[in-house]
Amino acid sequence: MVRITFIDAGGTRREIAAREGLSLMENAVAQGIEAIAAVCGGNCYCGTCRVHLTPEWFERLGPPGDYEGPVIDASGDAHPCARLACQLPVTEALEGLVVETPASQS
Ligand code: FES
Repeated sequence: MVRITFIDAGGTRREIAAREGLSLMENAVAQGIEAIAAVCGGNCYCGTCRVHLTPEWFERLGPPGDYEGPVIDASGDAHPCARLACQLPVTEALEGLVVETPASQS
């Protein structure tokens, strides 16, 4: 299990024990993180699974992919370190990750 913390727009923190082999979105939905609606079910289309990373984590995990970036842009999310949780596979490398969820997903 990989410890990952979600912080919602109101500042409430919630740590989950995420399963490797699933995406960050799949783990969040399975564990009741309400700010991750994931309307499209992980097809990189809806933009309702956005998370905001710290600059350090963003650099470590890399920028959005070719299909992911335009979906983030279309959502109107201008955060410089936004990613789609459905495009982030959970591995040991994510141990200790802390993400914020945008107010628009509250
Ligand atoms: S679940 Fe729809 S873009 Fe991630």
